[in-house]
Amino acid sequence: MKILFATPECAPYVKTGGLGDVSAALPATLAALGHDVRILLPAYKGMNVSGELGDTVELPARGPWPAAQLVPVRIANGVTLLLLACPSLYQRAGGPYVDASGRDYADNALRFGLLARVAAQLGTTQTPCAGWQADVVNANDWPTALAPLYLAQARELAPREPVASSVLTIHNMAFQGVFPMYMADTLGVPPTWRGMDGVEFWGQLSMLKAGLQFADAITTVSPTYAREIRTEAFGVGLEGVLQTQAHKLHGILNGIDTQVWNSAQDKLIPHHFSAVDLTGKARNKAALQQRFGLARHGMVFGVVSRLTSQKGIDLVLGSLDALLASDGQLVVLGQGEPGLQTALQEAAAKHPRQVAVMVGFNEELAHLVEAGADCFLMPSRFEPCGLNQMYSQAYGTPPLVSGVGGLVDSVTDATRDPQHGTGFVMRSVDPQGYREALDRAVKAWRDPQRWRRIQANGMARHFGWEESAAQYVEVYAKARAAPAAAAA
Ligand code: ADP
Ligand code: GLC
Repeated sequence: MKILFATPECAPYVKTGGLGDVSAALPATLAALGHDVRILLPAYKGMNVSGELGDTVELPARGPWPAAQLVPVRIANGVTLLLLACPSLYQRAGGPYVDASGRDYADNALRFGLLARVAAQLGTTQTPCAGWQADVVNANDWPTALAPLYLAQARELAPREPVASSVLTIHNMAFQGVFPMYMADTLGVPPTWRGMDGVEFWGQLSMLKAGLQFADAITTVSPTYAREIRTEAFGVGLEGVLQTQAHKLHGILNGIDTQVWNSAQDKLIPHHFSAVDLTGKARNKAALQQRFGLARHGMVFGVVSRLTSQKGIDLVLGSLDALLASDGQLVVLGQGEPGLQTALQEAAAKHPRQVAVMVGFNEELAHLVEAGADCFLMPSRFEPCGLNQMYSQAYGTPPLVSGVGGLVDSVTDATRDPQHGTGFVMRSVDPQGYREALDRAVKAWRDPQRWRRIQANGMARHFGWEESAAQYVEVYAKARAAPAAAAA
């Protein structure tokens, strides 16, 4: 199958969260299964890509978009990266979505409209890559979610020509790409599709809704989240659409890249270790404590996270006294909401021997925290999948998690199932639930034999991508067999 994976971020070139990891590992696994996979990604400023360069394709200016180029680069794992170069849209000082001061770029509708437009074009006979027309276009999150609409439009315009099937993968319902409706003209959304059954969301244009309406199939990154987003509590206003489209919605749990997140060969940690010999893990803990000037005793809790209300960092702060009172230490690596950053930094200043906070994005330190902490904290309010709880299980760092989304699907509670438990699942997502799980984790850690069993259970889990990639292929095949009728 010829698969186009359209995404706004892809590790190691550009990553703000789990989507970056998924965009690297899933296409590579699909390629290993024998598929012809290309990743469409904007060429942002400062990206360092190496591989075999193909012939650059010129994309003429079109509608509101300036001329652009597609630069094919064959990267190590047999996947071709199609870099979408349009300097005036993508070569900027900030991140992929926001400027240096954290504000959304004012022209994001155009920036990602172009990405979606080119993704769709690669699925039609008008493909800019000579001879390569995708069978399936897999769009990811709102920045590419107009692609299914553009493909539906191509089908309407030329019903006799082959057009790729479209799959939209939802990584997070909290980000929807909502813009003023007057952008519909600019983006070329047909007038008949601007209503409630099309892209309209409270009078505005929602890119995510467009994807939900027009994709032949929708996937999201865990079975539990696939159920949750059909409810008011998790659907962020789109639960009604998801209920209507439930027949084409599939929950497929993310995997992890077991080459990158492998404690026995991880290049970013000072000491390797495995389930049979955890000496290296103890050394990593010492290295972590030393790096931050923490006392060399106690139970180390780690956090690596975007600092947003999604991640429940306020719960960690709220029970910090209890954590510290039980000889615990807290190491946080993250960036995000200024209020949370400041609160964490104040805690670190107040307890320099017990709390360490590093504000920023640091791949190497993320690996050291996973490897060196005793317990990983992830009390998320919602979590489509979550990757860190899987990394931490693989690294012998039992996670404490809330009972939502992919956390439910990937962590087994050690109190409920002492035989197979791999972590601690909060019984409610509130201060009491967090505090109760924290107490259970501390108690378990004080019983070394029990703790080793929990660590071993987690390390024995298989979180590779093979099974999930096979499920994506099934969804692609289904979408090709029965393309959804256009929504409007
Ligand atoms: P989300 O995508 O919601 O942020 P995930 O758990 O799926 O959450 O993935 C987060 C990814 O981003 C992980 O690979 C994690 O290690 C990484 N990450 C998050 N914050 C940082 C940071 N400050 N420094 C380095 N890596 C980070
Ligand atoms: C999102 C979600 C996270 C998920 C990641 C990759 O950022 O918040 O739960 O793991 O996407 O799918």
